[in-house]
Amino acid sequence: MTAQKKSAGRAAADLVTTGQTVGLGTGSTVFFTLERLAERIAEEGLSVRGVPTSIDTETKAKGFGIPLATLGEVDSIDVTIDGADEIDGAFQMIKGGGGALLREKVVASISSQVITVVGPDKVVATLGTTFDLPVEVVPFARAVCERRIRALGGEPRVREKDGAPFVTDNSAQILDVHFPGGIADAPALERALDEIPGVVESGLFIGLSHVLVIGNDSGEAETRRK
Ligand code: 5RP
Repeated sequence: MTAQKKSAGRAAADLVTTGQTVGLGTGSTVFFTLERLAERIAEEGLSVRGVPTSIDTETKAKGFGIPLATLGEVDSIDVTIDGADEIDGAFQMIKGGGGALLREKVVASISSQVITVVGPDKVVATLGTTFDLPVEVVPFARAVCERRIRALGGEPRVREKDGAPFVTDNSAQILDVHFPGGIADAPALERALDEIPGVVESGLFIGLSHVLVIGNDSGEAETRRK
């Protein structure tokens, strides 16, 4: 599993060209992207500035010495490299396993190209069949959101950490929502979730990924374009 993530994360970093503004996703696969970008900066003089999608990634990128910029300092992003919890044949994704879905979606939305880095286990026929859908909610509205999500056929569960609700970088909480049988119409579900007052963002990423890099155990990666 780690070898697959490493192959994908590093292969995607090799697609970055000098002068680019690079969205830096969140998670254990992107860790290897950060590592490879840092190598390229040191070895080739690659010149990039990264826009991190989480405090965790910001800390790691700083540790690797990758120059960073905020969203206020960039008009657009050339390429974003990020992981996924599931991706289907139409490059629709579930994200948010690390709780960074809001910032990841904002950064993806202003990126000319999004490269998704995964191991083969993340590629699915139907979203929601191997991973529950993270939905970020305002704590005040959580009970209302849970009721509305149940009405949509979902089974929400409050994500916890150390016995208390997990708190996102945006001081919100996460509901991990199981949809029995999977998610039949992801765009419709995304719209329905967006209409619930108190929902900050859902982990459904529709039309946001352009390139899929799937790593394998022997250090190679397959690249698919949408
Ligand atoms: C974080 C995410 C991650 O990209 C997703 O959870 C995949 O993580 P990993 O690369 O560790 O498997 O969406 O919010």
